[in-house]
Amino acid sequence: EKVNWTQDESQKAGYSHYMLKEIHEQPRVIQNTLINMPLPESFNKSEILEQSRKTGILFLACGSSYHAALTARYLVEEHLNIPVRLEIASEFNYMHRLLPCKLAVVLTQSGETADVLRAMRRLKQAGCMVVAITNVAGSTAARLADHTIYTQAGPEIGVAATKSFIAQLIVLYALCFAGASAANIRYQDYLSTMRLLPSVVQSILGSHQNIKDAAVEVAKSKSAFFIGRGINYPIALEGALKLKEISYIHAEGYAAGELKHGPFALLSPETPVLALVSRDQTYEAMLTGLREIKVRRAPLIVIGEAGDEQLGQLADRVISLPSFNRLFNPILFTVVLQLLAYYVALELGCSIDTPRNLAKSVTVE
Ligand code: G6P
Repeated sequence: EKVNWTQDESQKAGYSHYMLKEIHEQPRVIQNTLINMPLPESFNKSEILEQSRKTGILFLACGSSYHAALTARYLVEEHLNIPVRLEIASEFNYMHRLLPCKLAVVLTQSGETADVLRAMRRLKQAGCMVVAITNVAGSTAARLADHTIYTQAGPEIGVAATKSFIAQLIVLYALCFAGASAANIRYQDYLSTMRLLPSVVQSILGSHQNIKDAAVEVAKSKSAFFIGRGINYPIALEGALKLKEISYIHAEGYAAGELKHGPFALLSPETPVLALVSRDQTYEAMLTGLREIKVRRAPLIVIGEAGDEQLGQLADRVISLPSFNRLFNPILFTVVLQLLAYYVALELGCSIDTPRNLAKSVTVE
């Protein structure tokens, strides 16, 4: 298999950094990924999926791909009603008991992360079917896997994963909704709604002065927390990872409900908290948590839904998502947090595309 990337696609095209270019490519990446993804029509009826309802699906990944896998856990359990086991690939290699799982899904942008490849070999030896979701045709993961699904992000040059992460989310949502659509027609509508995502993401990219302003504030701090509940929790982890990778500000992603079990001790007027708030079943508990944070006088930056009046009363700054089906909030929050990390790093004059000590793909265990 050949990599079909043109020279043009791997140049900066007038952007100051590859990362910014790659963030801005996301509407097209979403579109390409949706168009080119062969959705297995008989997915829901397939034997392996039936089998998985009993034995579960194992997801494995590292870094940002792990955060996509954690997002998948919420999607698969809620919409497909299949139990998910999830492991960081490097830790999986020390786990001595494999569950009788018949299906494993590995996520790896590069397809070359050593810990992921090692886990894949182990799973194959144990007779597990391995599906790889990767961005690189002909990569080792693609060759090792029983089935490969490609994200269509194109070459990602910036070390911090942006468009490859979004493309992973798109694949996971689409697979999950396609799988659920046989039992519930509503999911066909959700799949159609996904086709509107490129323009919604474009609208975030087109007007983000408030994100830039928030970035100037965050850039003054030495430490920040990112919090979310439910499916927004993995996005909080990813937001914190982006910030620490490229701006070197210490950032922790936390499940909002866990903040009071320790990190509260670190809250102060110098420690901003960035909260992801959806008006779903997590909403009331999020608001209660935000009030507790305010009492500790930490600057509160809330990213929430358009028209959510309550947020303005609680937060020091509100960044509103464009109005859209809230099922897709995780994707929109991701774009906001990518821009935020980028503008913080820009403000601090960091080496955005090549952060210190990091590699695009880690090929040693
Ligand atoms: C490296 C990169 C991260 C990436 C991780 C996993 O640490 O710097 O951005 O998320 O590897 O990479 P993979 O290619 O397996 O998705």
